[in-house]
Amino acid sequence: MMAKGTHTTTMMANDLPDVEVSCLQCHDDPPHDSGTEHGKALNSHLARIACQTCHIPSLHEDNTTRRDFGNTVYEEEHGIYIYDDSVKESKPGKGIAYVWWNGDATFLGNPIGDNPNQAGLYTFYDAAHRWPEFADFDYRGWYEETMRPIARAGRPSKLYAMKRFNGRQHIDLQNMGPFGGMFVPYNLPTYYRTGQPSTAARVEMEKSMMGMMYGLLFKYYMMDKFMSFMAIDGWNTDSYVDVHAGREVQPRWIPTDAMLEISHAIRLDGALDCSDCHGPQSVLDWQQLGYTPAEITDLSQAR
Ligand code: HEC
Ligand code: HEC
Ligand code: HEC
Repeated sequence: MMAKGTHTTTMMANDLPDVEVSCLQCHDDPPHDSGTEHGKALNSHLARIACQTCHIPSLHEDNTTRRDFGNTVYEEEHGIYIYDDSVKESKPGKGIAYVWWNGDATFLGNPIGDNPNQAGLYTFYDAAHRWPEFADFDYRGWYEETMRPIARAGRPSKLYAMKRFNGRQHIDLQNMGPFGGMFVPYNLPTYYRTGQPSTAARVEMEKSMMGMMYGLLFKYYMMDKFMSFMAIDGWNTDSYVDVHAGREVQPRWIPTDAMLEISHAIRLDGALDCSDCHGPQSVLDWQQLGYTPAEITDLSQAR
């Protein structure tokens, strides 16, 4: 039985959902020396800023922020083709994103949260890679109507550093919506041997399991409901013919990057300090974090 804590962005089962996993189970609360001005100032941030935000100032250079399954590279050493992991960003603003988080997440890995200032200026879903079919979709209106109330109803949010991630994978173009679509799985032996993701997707469609998934039993038992979570009106079983023939299938990035919680690589040296956030070269984008113009003036000069 593994405890994952009460805050998680993944949808994997949590054996012990009530068991907290946090820095303060080992460290003093507050952790910084309250006898000094500096320590006191750091401690004054704990209600709003998670420990990881300051203590993970960068990611390891070898981490992957974009995994392109639709494009392969040959690995000499193992003699196989693998997905393209060449985009590696490790710095704030690139690999690291700062987000408000209340501990819950959408099933596409978007941390749910809002700036506690209640100004209504922060959004955790931006559709930066929106698909051409949904260019006119009113993401903003949907956000205000559906997501803002959810973000406000949850536990109080704190500012977290997260690892940005997106994957590009083949999608059934007749089963997609504004937030994503149905992935077409790859036949892995074909994928690794040929390095042709489209062929691997077509080969996997031969499996009887895929025929069943596109059958009526699955549709009524599970898929209609599942697709509704992505605002897709019913599971379209007719697309089976096209997908099976390799038509109407295309690799796509997910419309909004996922954000993955991070807790490894805690550092004392290089921890974010006053000027990293409040100075002219701030790692934080105050506007994107939903602060008002007056607050931004204060915060960019706070000492
Ligand atoms: C299971 C207990 C445990 C947890 C949980 C834990 N720590 Fe620690 N931490 C330690 C111990 C023990 C040390 C001292 C290690 C050493 O001196 O080699 C330490 C060292 C540190 C240091 C360096 C302190 C110094 O004076 O060198 C920092 C900073 C730190 N932890 C922050 C964190 C943060 C942030 C978290 C949560 C993400 C966290 N720790 C979670 C036990 C823990
Ligand atoms: C606003 C940024 C910030 C936040 C939030 C933050 N820290 Fe720190 N922390 C620092 C900095 C900067 C230092 C180095 C302080 C110094 O100059 O001694 C530090 C030092 C420490 C130390 C070493 C203390 C010592 O006296 O040597 C520990 C342990 C630690 N932090 C744990 C935590 C834990 C646990 C949390 C969350 C409860 C946390 N920090 C939240 C910025 C932060
Ligand atoms: C990780 C970035 C970060 C670091 C590091 C940091 N701050 Fe802050 N600070 C913030 C944020 C975010 C707020 C606003 C929190 C909120 O929404 O109330 C804030 C608020 C403040 C405020 C209140 C400002 C106001 O007008 O309400 C002061 C003063 C301040 N910080 C000083 C400091 C000092 C001094 C240090 C160094 C010891 C420091 N900060 C380190 C991010 C940071």
